[in-house]
Amino acid sequence: MTNRSDFPLFDNHPTLIYLDSAATTQKPKSVIEAVTFFYENENANVRRGVYNLTAKATNRYENTRVQIQQFIGAQHPQSIVFTKGTTESINIVAHCFAAPRLHAGDEILISAMEHHANLIPWQQICLQKKAHLKIIPLTETGDLDVEIFQKMLHPRVKMVAVTHLSNVLGTVNPIEALILEVKKHQIPILVDMAQSIASHTVDVADWEVDFVAFSGHKMYAPTGVGILYGQKKHLENMLPFQFGGDMIKDVSFEKTIFAAPPHRFEGGTPNAAGIAGLSAAIDYLQTLGQQNIYNHIDLLTKYCIESLRKIPMVQILGNPSKIFGVVSFTIENIHPHDIATILDSEFNIAVRAGQHCAQPLADLLEVPATVRVSFGIYNQKKDIDKLVEGLLWVITLFR
Ligand SMILES: Cc1ncc(COP(=O)(O)O)c(C=O)c1O
Repeated sequence: MTNRSDFPLFDNHPTLIYLDSAATTQKPKSVIEAVTFFYENENANVRRGVYNLTAKATNRYENTRVQIQQFIGAQHPQSIVFTKGTTESINIVAHCFAAPRLHAGDEILISAMEHHANLIPWQQICLQKKAHLKIIPLTETGDLDVEIFQKMLHPRVKMVAVTHLSNVLGTVNPIEALILEVKKHQIPILVDMAQSIASHTVDVADWEVDFVAFSGHKMYAPTGVGILYGQKKHLENMLPFQFGGDMIKDVSFEKTIFAAPPHRFEGGTPNAAGIAGLSAAIDYLQTLGQQNIYNHIDLLTKYCIESLRKIPMVQILGNPSKIFGVVSFTIENIHPHDIATILDSEFNIAVRAGQHCAQPLADLLEVPATVRVSFGIYNQKKDIDKLVEGLLWVITLFR
C-alpha cells in the first residue's frame, strides 16, 4: 500500500520524506476537497437558521456525528461531542465529570507515558481538590506495569486515564484488558486514542469504556476538530464548562437551562468545515480499510527498528511488547535537534526532535530529548532507507 499520490502536499514537495505523522498527518485530496466543497456550496452557521443553506450545513454536521457513532461503535449519536481535539476532549472530562466528583484524598491514575494533554488536566484538578495524581509505572521495556497497576486500583481511585498508544515509545497498551480490569472496580476510565484511532478499530460499546478522546488531524482530517465519546449516562450528568451560544434550552437574565448532550458541550460556532473534512477522512480510511492501514504501518515500524538496530551508535528508546507507528531514538553524543536539523536541510526528511509533550517521561528515561520518527499511510520502506542514509551521514559529520 502506498498512497502518496492521494496527498497533494507531496505534489508540491516531491522530494519530502515526511516522518512526523504522530504530530499531524498530511491530508488526502478528498479531505481538502470536502472542506472546499463545504465553503463553496454549503457554508452557513449550523443549528441556527431556518433557511435551506443552514439546514444543509446542519445536516452534514449531524450526519457526521452519526458516521462517527458508527465508526467507533457507539450506541447513541448523543454520545459523540465535537471538540477542537483530544486536548479539549480530555479537559471536558476532567473539569465536567471528574472534578465535581473528586474529594480531598481521592486518587486519579494516569500512566508514566502520557502526553501532557492527558496529564496536566488531571494534575490541575487534583491540585484544586487536594486529591492525588498517581502514576502507573512502566517496566524497563517501556510497557505499562500491569501488575503494579492492578494493585493501584482501590476504592479511593475515582478515575483512570490512559493512552492507547504512546506518542514517544510507540507502546500499544493492552487497552481492552486494562478497561476490563478497571471496570471490575467500577472506576470510570478515559482512553486517549489520539495516536491509535486511524489504524486501530475500536468498539466503544463492546469495550464498555466510559470516555474516549481523539483528534481529527492525526487521522488525515483537518486541524481544529476532535471527538469526545462519553457514555450517555455520564454526559447527561455533566454540566458544561464553556458557556455561550447554541448550548442552551432556555435562558433568562437569572438562569439558564442547558441543552441536552452533546450540544450542551458545543457552545459557540463549531468548525463545520473541519467536520465536513473529518467525514471525508473517515470515508477515506474505510475505503482503504483500517486493517490494511494497520498492516502497512506495522510493517514499516518493524522495518524501521530492524534498520536502526544495524547502526551501532543508535539507541532506540524502550522495547515494548507491542510497538506501532512511532520509534524514538538517540545517537551517542549528538543532540537530537542537530540530527533533525541536518536531516531536514541535507535530506529533506522531516522528523521530530524534543520531548514530544511528555516531559516527565523524558525525565524518567533520563534523556533530555529524542529523535522521533512516525509513519503514515504515504510512507514507504524507501523512506526508512533514506533515513538510515541520513543518519549515517550525520554520524560521519560528528565523528
Ligand atoms: C497521545 C496523545 N494524546 C494527546 C495529544 C494531544 O492532541 P491534540 O494536540 O490534537 O489535542 C497528542 C498529540 O500529539 C498525543 O500524541
